[in-house]
Amino acid sequence: MSEENQFQPRIAAFFCNWCTYGGADLAGVSRLQYPPNFRAIRIPCTGRMSPKFILQAFRQGADGVWVSGCHPGDCHYIAGNMYARRRFTILKNLLEYVGIEPNRLHFSWISSAEATKFQQTAIEVIESVRALGPATRMVKDIRRVA
Ligand code: FES
Repeated sequence: MSEENQFQPRIAAFFCNWCTYGGADLAGVSRLQYPPNFRAIRIPCTGRMSPKFILQAFRQGADGVWVSGCHPGDCHYIAGNMYARRRFTILKNLLEYVGIEPNRLHFSWISSAEATKFQQTAIEVIESVRALGPATRMVKDIRRVA
């Protein structure tokens, strides 16, 4: 299959304002290339992320969700990222229980200085979701054919 005919996953990406969003910005400024398959949504901290945002993304047709925040010890709100990690581990198990493959949900820690790590993680996330094909569980809206 040629690259143009490849399945292009749609990924909702929630990035912490203080770290990963900056890392994405730096990757862009540094002209590091990665596939444009995700839509970045800036959040104040991963601790602010409600599991409902993730469920809503899947309901609205996202093939994958990526949440990325500050490294442990670097969270601007002390422990928001640690709460988030605990919450998402439970959510991931729950999603698996309802039939959503675990590789559709990714969680990472990327600082604003880690442009290369951002690029590599973006590629990994996109390729692992692409390998799963389109998401069909939980999708509420009629999918657009893009
Ligand atoms: Fe970045 Fe909390 S401020 S994860």
